[in-house]
Amino acid sequence: MNNLLNIGVLASGNGSNLQAIIDRIENGELTAKIACVISNNAGAFALERARRYGIPALHLDHRLFPGRAGYDAALLEALREYEVELVALAGFMRIITPVLIDAYPHAIMNIHPALLPAFPGLHAQKQALDYGVKISGCTVHFVDPGTDTGPVIIQSAVPVLEGDTEETLSARIQVEEHRVYPKAIGLFAKGCLKVEGRTVIISPPPVLTTAALINPPA
Ligand code: GRF
Repeated sequence: MNNLLNIGVLASGNGSNLQAIIDRIENGELTAKIACVISNNAGAFALERARRYGIPALHLDHRLFPGRAGYDAALLEALREYEVELVALAGFMRIITPVLIDAYPHAIMNIHPALLPAFPGLHAQKQALDYGVKISGCTVHFVDPGTDTGPVIIQSAVPVLEGDTEETLSARIQVEEHRVYPKAIGLFAKGCLKVEGRTVIISPPPVLTTAALINPPA
């Protein structure tokens, strides 16, 4: 099959979201191909995960480039070499610039561990705990030039529990990350996503089967 959506995953760390995408492709739930995984960090476990599945794993060191735009031009060259159609940021700890964003209009996704627009930026889980919210979660969104500001594709909410630490809340949120990221990619792959202004229109319209999440229960 050569009409599979080619995904390029950019990751800096553990790569558990990469693994979730790989797993859904392996079990047939997601029809797409990971064309390459690129990391700015040579030691990223994400690269090792890619190698285990025979996925091209590239280390592109940002320190070798004078500025963000130069680094993004190198990323773009690599993504084009692998004919990437959708870029999935999965724990990629670099701010990307219009060099990349303009080359992939509404075709770069990111996953963020909070219900955006709440708690953008770093340490979102800690921000949620410090604020004292009762519900947090994760968001997959298209990337625009802002920090975690692009159109929202899918969100999943989890309760914040008494006694939660950054670790326990992060773990609860990650379970959801691993569900919603492959789902968002699947919707993209099937051509179900259209962006109108800030809103991502999903077709056919989703039918919700779950009830409201209320914490504490009412
Ligand atoms: C996740 O929490 C994701 O929401 C954030 O970075 C983390 C990446 O985790 N953007 P992993 O490397 O996929 O395990």
